[in-house]
Amino acid sequence: MNKFKYITSTTGNYNLLKQYAKDNRNTATEAESVLWNRIRARQLGVKFRRQHPISDYIADFVCLQLHLVIEVDGAYHYHGDVPENDAKRTEYLNQLGYSLVRFTNEEVIADIDNVILKLNQIIKDMNTTKQTSSSTGWSEPLQPDGQSTSPSGRRGRGMKIAVLAGDGIGPEIMEQGVAVMTAVCEKFGHSVSYKEALCGAHAIDEVGDPFPEETFQTCMEADAVLFASVGDPKFDNNPNAKVRPEQGLLAMRKKLGLFANIRPVETFDCLIHKSPLKDELVRGADFICIRELTGGMYFGEKKEGTDVAYDTNYYTRYEVERILRVAYQYAMQRRKHLTVVDKANVLASSRLWRAVAQEMAPEYPEVVTDYMYVDNAAMRMIQEPTFFDVMVTENTFGDILTDEGSCITGSMGLLPSASTGEHTPVFEPIHGSWPQAKGLNIANPLAQILSVAMLFEYFNLKEEGALIRQAVNASLDQNVRTPEIQVEGGARYGTREVGQWIVDYIKKA
Ligand SMILES: NC(=O)c1ccc[n+]([C@@H]2O[C@H](COP(=O)([O-])OP(=O)(O)OC[C@H]3O[C@@H](n4cnc5c(N)ncnc54)[C@H](O)[C@@H]3O)[C@@H](O)[C@H]2O)c1
Repeated sequence: MNKFKYITSTTGNYNLLKQYAKDNRNTATEAESVLWNRIRARQLGVKFRRQHPISDYIADFVCLQLHLVIEVDGAYHYHGDVPENDAKRTEYLNQLGYSLVRFTNEEVIADIDNVILKLNQIIKDMNTTKQTSSSTGWSEPLQPDGQSTSPSGRRGRGMKIAVLAGDGIGPEIMEQGVAVMTAVCEKFGHSVSYKEALCGAHAIDEVGDPFPEETFQTCMEADAVLFASVGDPKFDNNPNAKVRPEQGLLAMRKKLGLFANIRPVETFDCLIHKSPLKDELVRGADFICIRELTGGMYFGEKKEGTDVAYDTNYYTRYEVERILRVAYQYAMQRRKHLTVVDKANVLASSRLWRAVAQEMAPEYPEVVTDYMYVDNAAMRMIQEPTFFDVMVTENTFGDILTDEGSCITGSMGLLPSASTGEHTPVFEPIHGSWPQAKGLNIANPLAQILSVAMLFEYFNLKEEGALIRQAVNASLDQNVRTPEIQVEGGARYGTREVGQWIVDYIKKA
């Protein structure tokens, strides 16, 4: 059977996808992703992403970076205000700033390679136009020497990385993160260019805004944002400050539509003694907390009076479904166990979460989905952290549980995170700007370096991520460690020395 027989529209033709799934003893989501991965595998050098309002309601594939919508037989089943008439739809998308390219089912089924060839050309042309029209300031791309040096012989891809170093120890750890990223790109034959942008206290001092418009534009032009940390005591200690560095973080999340916060909770064998939990409980704990980041109580309607105050835990089906999809995708890549954390015995919003999860679970038959009340989850994380694989929850519960998760492994300074959503994804350490350590060359750069590993993994560049993790583990095993985790009598390594050791390891690997 032709592998692509039923791969058509990911919105309108969902029933056909399900049929494909059934025929192939597969899941609809895997079926959906066949064409998707196939296109991505062609290393187009731009990102395609689902889970964007436009891709959910209009199109099959949306290339956000280029504002390009790709339809396959998309002539029916549109939602909301989207016109069904082809010409009107083109006009509608143009008004939103998107271009549209169409393929028919027949074209895709008959010759997927030709479709990809055509897409390649369109994207190349758009990229050329974009490069000449976009703002400057990007570093000269690091060009591989033309031969793929990837150990597996894969072709390299192009990446634009926005570098937001922020305040305190941010610039020092970022320097090491970028050095590691560059070393990995050289090794695997990827072309990478960077552009630094202001954020946090530094940005307030320079332009009066912790997330200036220019920084936002740089993030939008990029494939990914590498972020360090923001915060400065002069704002922390001034209750009257009208603008604060942390507002930059919130603005970034909002403007980039970062609705999914992903925090791995990982143990490092040589640091287990630092965990507040007993060795036998925490050893082997390895799970991911996924927190919904842009909805719920923090953003719902509020009232603050002297006698009455309330916050509204508002969620829509759309918001719940899109974060659950992210969680299922992570679960599919891991041990296929998803725990949906809620308070469905009390909260209406939690019952919506649970109902949507129960509807979606059959789409992922390989994943074991279980449901846990948040109070129970908080206990279970302490009593049996190895139980979890992927945990997903709403904003407020996630805020608390992710912090609990990050401290049980005893290695807070080593934990990276990712925030993904409608636009460019952001990769950052979970810790803050540790202003007291600024300029002392003592900050641990590993959380920043592991954020780079997450960045590669996000783009499905798993070997790259794995090499960084291998280098980090080797540095820890060989006691190449910054002071806060160094063993007694161990040699002294600073931020720069640890970073350089990892770069050298990657080059030699
Ligand atoms: N995402 C962010 O940018 C973010 C997150 C948290 C706090 N902050 C800001 O950072 C500033 C300092 O906040 P804080 O002191 O509460 O938190 P912090 O994470 O900066 O520091 C807390 C402690 O963690 C340890 N630590 C942090 N980073 C480390 C590293 N790389 N290596 C080794 N040890 C490390 C240090 O012991 C430090 O005293 C504040 O202005 C705060 O608002 C920013």
